[in-house]
Amino acid sequence: MTTPPKTMRWNGGPDGWLTMIDQTLLPTEFKEINCKTVEEVWEAIKMLRVRGAPAIGCAAAYGVIIGMQQKIDASSIRDEFDRRLKEVTEYLATSRPTAVNLFWALDRMQDVSLENPSLSPQEMHQRLLEEAMAIEEEDRAMCAAIGQHGAKLIEKGTSILTHCNAGGLATAGDGTALAVMFAAAAQGKEIQVYADETRPLLQGARLTTWELQQRDIPVTLICDSMAGQVMKEKRIQAVITGADRIAANGDACNKIGTYSVALLAKAHNIPFYVAAPSSTFDLSLATGDEIPIEERQPEEITNGMGKQTAPESTRVYNPAFDVTPAELISAIITEHGIIQPVTTEQVRSQIEKT
Ligand code: MRU
Repeated sequence: MTTPPKTMRWNGGPDGWLTMIDQTLLPTEFKEINCKTVEEVWEAIKMLRVRGAPAIGCAAAYGVIIGMQQKIDASSIRDEFDRRLKEVTEYLATSRPTAVNLFWALDRMQDVSLENPSLSPQEMHQRLLEEAMAIEEEDRAMCAAIGQHGAKLIEKGTSILTHCNAGGLATAGDGTALAVMFAAAAQGKEIQVYADETRPLLQGARLTTWELQQRDIPVTLICDSMAGQVMKEKRIQAVITGADRIAANGDACNKIGTYSVALLAKAHNIPFYVAAPSSTFDLSLATGDEIPIEERQPEEITNGMGKQTAPESTRVYNPAFDVTPAELISAIITEHGIIQPVTTEQVRSQIEKT
């Protein structure tokens, strides 16, 4: 097994820059990009160069450090700094609407300012960098804990279906759904994985297979539309996906197609697990109906991966996420343990404590 490359890394002190893997180029090209302006960080999130809920949160936190660089000099005053901080966080919040980790991380950065009114702009900039690094470090720890808790649900020889990419590339650590698989494999459970290719941007085909191959975990790629047949052939004993936002009742929003997989799992009596850190929960929303669903460009469907596959000016609807109702979810795996059954009471009792 080769050591997996880091999804992102910060270079230097408060005047440093953010290096990230450009995930749009994988698996055929491994290239890192350097973001030195807040606009570059925004663009990287928008265009999915960095993607996956926890990774977006970490990148946005570092984006704040970059966005604040131009406002720091010996003469700058704190009011001016705070105004700019608000401007930068509000700007980064417009990059993508669905993954709540983005807003969670930006709120944390804002809170640093509220909690430290007496720090100078220079001291605040340093303090914000420490917060961004803490967000990244905590994410790594959450992934590891999710892996350990989730592995308890996996028996030896289990064949697992996953959708999209909830791996190391989507986080600062080992991922969420994939962390469970890595932990189970490390415990000698001899798992194998089926990866949905995940239309239209193929995060499953391009990223999940790439990560699992690096870790020497047997992986078989299928088209999204094959999941039902593969389940019917009894090739799958568990489904594990990540999530972008989970409402208070446990409804879980994830990459488009996840809901269909959950329905199929129910029909075939296969457990459907969601693995996500507490930063993915949005307890301000009673149900998943309130989760904003990102709609992306039609070209992702009509001209996916550089080839035109539909007539010119075909009308397209391209929601990037869907919501799986709590009743289809067998358990949610978090860094604190297993939420089961998935009810408002259980979700609140585990997540509100944190
Ligand atoms: O559009 P993407 O690639 O950012 O969507 C990512 C997903 O849907 C992931 O499953 C989710 O963010 C969980 S990542 C641990």
